[in-house]
Amino acid sequence: MKVSFTTHAIPKSHAVCVGVTADRTLTPTAEQLDTATGGAVWKAVNAAPRFKGDKRQFLEVLAPGGVDNSRIVLVGLGKPEELSESELESVGGELLAKLNASGESQATMVLDPLPGSPVAAPETAAHLAYGARLRSYRFDKYRTQEKAEDKPTLTKLAFALSDQQKAKAAYDPLDKVADGVFLTRDLVSEPANVMSPEALAEECGKLEKLGVEIEVLDTKTMGKLGMGALLGVAQGSVREPKLVTMRWQGGKGKKTPLAVVGKGVCFDSGGISLKPAQGMGDMKWDMGGAGVTIGLMKALAGRKAKLNVVGVVGLVENMPDGNAYRPGDVLTSMSGQTIEVLNTDAEGRLVLADAFWYTQQTFEPKTMINLATLTGAVLVALGTRKAGLFANDDELATSLTAAGEGVGESVWRLPMDDEYDKDINSDIADMKNTGDGRNASATAAAQFLRRFVQKGVKWAHLDIAGVTWSSKDAALVPKGGTGFGVRLLNRLVEDQFEK
Ligand code: BES
Ligand code: MN
Ligand code: ZN
Repeated sequence: MKVSFTTHAIPKSHAVCVGVTADRTLTPTAEQLDTATGGAVWKAVNAAPRFKGDKRQFLEVLAPGGVDNSRIVLVGLGKPEELSESELESVGGELLAKLNASGESQATMVLDPLPGSPVAAPETAAHLAYGARLRSYRFDKYRTQEKAEDKPTLTKLAFALSDQQKAKAAYDPLDKVADGVFLTRDLVSEPANVMSPEALAEECGKLEKLGVEIEVLDTKTMGKLGMGALLGVAQGSVREPKLVTMRWQGGKGKKTPLAVVGKGVCFDSGGISLKPAQGMGDMKWDMGGAGVTIGLMKALAGRKAKLNVVGVVGLVENMPDGNAYRPGDVLTSMSGQTIEVLNTDAEGRLVLADAFWYTQQTFEPKTMINLATLTGAVLVALGTRKAGLFANDDELATSLTAAGEGVGESVWRLPMDDEYDKDINSDIADMKNTGDGRNASATAAAQFLRRFVQKGVKWAHLDIAGVTWSSKDAALVPKGGTGFGVRLLNRLVEDQFEK
């Protein structure tokens, strides 16, 4: 779907969309259409007693006489003074879904100024467009026999307003962020037979053309560096693991204040501690943390963000095999700390342990944020609406929470402390990779990660196991891979790192 911005005028054909605010207040263009159609708009509004012009309410007037449009879509905006950028995005997303279901191929939303709205007209257009674009995502490359009537129909969506240049300028960076979100959604949607560690590393390589510097470590190099934890997980798979670093140097100087690290388990069978068959296919998206890291790098490089940042992803496959690591094995991590493996299904933390150490040794970041589909326990605790947040720094936790609320990707902080830390002590090694059975197991995983965070580094861990995949449509996210985390961290970067 192509988004564009054009001059303020009623389009000569196809669908025309116009705003209606609370208490059935028609915008000037809606009134103008009513006049042109001999009163068809008000007639429709009066025939629909439940249509109040509330946020995300829609009313369609089909094939009205007096104009050449196929339909008029009244778009409920609610009270102008209550509008926000993210509300507008939701409206844009729902509008797009509506148009796609209607069979329409082109639509133009004519935007009049909204007195009382805190969002200026160009930003209003930009965020409506952004919401529509985010919702338009579809992963259909493997559907070869889909019927035409089941496919989305809208190919062009225009926004008509007097400040079209400003709207376009406001939309440009948002469009780049959407590109990053779409990449993440693509990566998590790909099946594991296609998206191996090597294939995912190649996807990282494609960011080079945006100016991202890529380095890929193979098994041999990781062996020399002593990454026994990551390599332990990988050894049961015939596919070679990779560790990829992606650097974006958009800021001043050479230092790298921010590192983002992603868990990239391309398939998590559980290993010798094999998972049950039910739902195992979901574990193709156990590389979701890496997917977000890669999508974020694309977004930041795409919009030429003014900071230096590195993204690091540990890419492995966790498989049962004659050569697989076993429960009871002791692994030596790059940090020198030893780990007793009690469950080969608690593999993500092992991958991250070495990815953390490498990141800190190589780039000396002040802040390190990781994303990982780390535990089923976070799903039990928070469901699919919020990601779990763990942090060793209150300010970082606060800014992440605020960034999440700002973009509608909500996070909730969960506890860590020295008592929980004791739960991962091992009888024969420095630590074990599980905690006190099922109890507080999202926290146990976080405590484990914390042991690989160096002194003085501000660190946050987002457990995105519950939010990476969605089984139903939402305003900005069609069901499937969500891309949760890209917009959140992009906002954090804007708020905290680009000043
Ligand atoms: N990848 C899983 C966690 C997961 C579960 C992600 C459901 C998405 C949806 C992780 O590697 C895992 O298996 N964790 C175990 C840890 C346990 C063995 C300590 C878990 O949460 O059950
Ligand atoms: Mn696992
Ligand atoms: Zn996993």
